[in-house]
Amino acid sequence: MATDVLLIGSGGREHALAWKLAQSPELGRLYAAPGNPGIAQHAELVPLAAADHAAVIDFCRSAGIGLVVVGPEVPLVAGLADALRAEGIPVFGPSAAAARLEGSKGFTKDLCTRQSIPTARYRRFTDAAAACEYVRAEGAPIVVKADGLAAGKGVTVAVDVEEAIAAVDACFADGPCAEVVIEECMTGPEVSLFCLCDGERAIPFGTAQDHKRAFDGDKGPNTGGMGAFSPSPLMDDALLDRVMREIVRPTLAGMRELGAPFAGVLYAGLMLTPDGPKLVEYNVRFGDPECQVLMPRLESDILPILQAAADGSLEGIDVRWKDEAAVTVVLVSRGYPAGFESGTAIAALPVGLPDTILFHAGTRQDGDRLVAVGGRVLAATGVAPTIQAAAGRAYDLAARIDWPNGFFRRDIAASV
Ligand code: AMP
Ligand code: GLY
Repeated sequence: MATDVLLIGSGGREHALAWKLAQSPELGRLYAAPGNPGIAQHAELVPLAAADHAAVIDFCRSAGIGLVVVGPEVPLVAGLADALRAEGIPVFGPSAAAARLEGSKGFTKDLCTRQSIPTARYRRFTDAAAACEYVRAEGAPIVVKADGLAAGKGVTVAVDVEEAIAAVDACFADGPCAEVVIEECMTGPEVSLFCLCDGERAIPFGTAQDHKRAFDGDKGPNTGGMGAFSPSPLMDDALLDRVMREIVRPTLAGMRELGAPFAGVLYAGLMLTPDGPKLVEYNVRFGDPECQVLMPRLESDILPILQAAADGSLEGIDVRWKDEAAVTVVLVSRGYPAGFESGTAIAALPVGLPDTILFHAGTRQDGDRLVAVGGRVLAATGVAPTIQAAAGRAYDLAARIDWPNGFFRRDIAASV
């Protein structure tokens, strides 16, 4: 029987999920809340606020939703998946207790200690003076992280003690309940590994590398992600086995022991240090823009896979990938990630370029005009047998977008 699906979110990640879900022969109707103009090509948009659990539940009941797929972390940390599960509505995404893996860095670091998971040495502080004293004793470089969700902005890799102390002060300026985690600074290339989890099992679900800095040459401030490519050439089978054995599976076991089994997608940010792979951080959802390079490479139907993760039956699930690479280039508003103008016009979008997909993030339909309403606005993805060729396609597509207020990095995947 066909399954009607509700997708929660409105970014490029959710457009990629909608694009892939729409290809499923098992899909009935696809709804998205709130969605965006790109998602509207595949789904019926419904004006639901994810924070209004009762409204989401009512909609699911009246529309006969068979699976809710939650894209972003905020509703997961706020317990949307718990509220749905309590009503017997199948949902892909972890409980609030399991989403602490992203929602609290201190929680995750303590789990790593208990489970002997390799990660940076750390201390947690709820007192600014004690944190500063520790920074002075340790010296720089050192990493300061605000506990809690910070939309990719809560981390300072401080090159000197003064910068670290300023970062500590900034964290505690936000309020008396603040907590910081201070970590040893690790070195090495970074890889993202995605794993589908059903509480018991974790199966690898693709690798990617992203580009966090705003400008070419990894200059400028950190962003949510300016581009990505998949698969990562840094991850071979032996390394994957090691990461699953030393990092991912002990995490799942630790979460079960806490009574908070993890079901959903676990996104492990890894650093390949001289001492082996170490965990930098966990996210409890697909990466954005990493999802825009994973979905185009996925050969298998995604709907039964997400259902299996949701209902605890991942065992034996077969996940096949295309023997192809994908690269995505994110077009952002001038000024991003600081201030940017909202409502700038995007002229007609390119169509029909082979092996490319244009994913929408911060766009809005304003009558017959498409306008930019976010920092990250579009993601131009190219697919090809090699990363270099895929980058060529992504850049061909990006160059044809007529949006004077936008810009993008010119060096996504260039160093591969
Ligand atoms: P996070 O938000 O935890 O992923 O941190 C953002 C970025 O900061 C990471 O992708 C790393 O580049 C960097 N970072 C975080 N923690 C460390 C660490 N302990 N050592 C070195 N770099 C780090
Ligand atoms: N691209 C980084 C993230 O999704 O957190």
